[in-house]
Amino acid sequence: MSVLSGKNIILGVTGGIAAYKSSILVRLLVKAGAAVKVIMTPAALEFVTPLTLATLSKNPVHHLFTEEGDTTGVWNNHVELGLWGDLMIIAPATANTMSKMVTGGIDNLLLAVYCSAKCPVYIAPAMDLDMYKHPSTQHSFEKLSSYGNIIIPAGDGELASGLSGKGRMAEPEEILSFIEEDIEKQLPLKGKRVLITAGPTYEPIDPVRFIGNHSSGKMGAALALEAAQLGALVTLIIGPSHVEAVHSNISRTNVMTAQQMYDQVFNHVDKVDIAIFSAAVADYRPQSVADQKIKKKDSTLTIELVKNPDILASVGALKKRPFLVGFALETENELEHAFAKAEKKNCDLLVLNSTRDKGAGFGKDTNKVTIIDRKKQTTVYETKSKQLVAKDILNEIIEKIK
Ligand code: CTP
Repeated sequence: MSVLSGKNIILGVTGGIAAYKSSILVRLLVKAGAAVKVIMTPAALEFVTPLTLATLSKNPVHHLFTEEGDTTGVWNNHVELGLWGDLMIIAPATANTMSKMVTGGIDNLLLAVYCSAKCPVYIAPAMDLDMYKHPSTQHSFEKLSSYGNIIIPAGDGELASGLSGKGRMAEPEEILSFIEEDIEKQLPLKGKRVLITAGPTYEPIDPVRFIGNHSSGKMGAALALEAAQLGALVTLIIGPSHVEAVHSNISRTNVMTAQQMYDQVFNHVDKVDIAIFSAAVADYRPQSVADQKIKKKDSTLTIELVKNPDILASVGALKKRPFLVGFALETENELEHAFAKAEKKNCDLLVLNSTRDKGAGFGKDTNKVTIIDRKKQTTVYETKSKQLVAKDILNEIIEKIK
């Protein structure tokens, strides 16, 4: 999955012959899962039609502060557009537009949006070789870089003038991979390996029955996706669950019982930097599993249960162990129990759920958590979607491992 998936991208198109390649770039960005809004300078309209870019981006294309023929006074709010973007790409960027970006000469919508945007801005210049080499252009590159903009170097080759040299806009595929790589290398969990347990465990009684619980695996899947999006390589060890967690950085292992989860965790735990135990592991399992379906006979049936290994506590007891995050579900004296559990299981962080909170619990799409650390510092979070809770948990982890 591309790091651009789910991102809002403002694509600025200026008036150079390479503008025709913007349509390919829009297609690639949309294919990568980004939402794209295109803004054109008046000069860009001479090279490519707004209709092409609107069709490919599935969004209206803007080039004026008010739309042509508009009598309603409704204007294209450059501040709103600028703040909408998670990142902005200006491709192609002409020498003229770059020089105005340097000096703040705002004479069109694109430049107004550029000056209003707070997001990273990538610039793919395109011009003739002598213009590219000219001190004024080189000055623009220097200045724009010093403002924090990122220049995507132009390529060498045949130019529209018939001359050959540096100045060709990077190909749309090169622009896409340049941006993806640049974002990836800044991800806070880049290079980290994260192990996550999730979902319930099923402890078989006979070939058709089991002891289980209502955990859906949603919280663990949200954590896996979030960690993957932050650049981590994730090993998700999940009990029976239909929840999906699809990302090229996630490797998923399905297990059924606590013992299988324990075995898989110990296959991986010495290779990871962070381990998050969100699974609702069955504390006990039937002592023996019947070979055949148990037939009903007497009015009562007793099943002898034996303790399952405590996976979190076993990892907590290791000499060399990853940064450890446990979960606790409590019904009363929540904080007191959570402090005791964190200490007993040797957790660096403990995520506390209370059954008394309405927005929390098995199967729900929301959760309400309190996170405690080794110093018993507690942070209480509001009820929010499990994806946002996953962000909070990972942010706390990132803060602690810095
Ligand atoms: N856990 C585990 N292996 C177990 C039981 C629990 O890894 N056999 C982990 C859970 O994934 C969770 C944490 O331990 O991160 C807390 O689990 P919880 O069931 O709330 O606590 P218990 O230690 O089982 O205590 P109790 O049920 O008595 O509250």
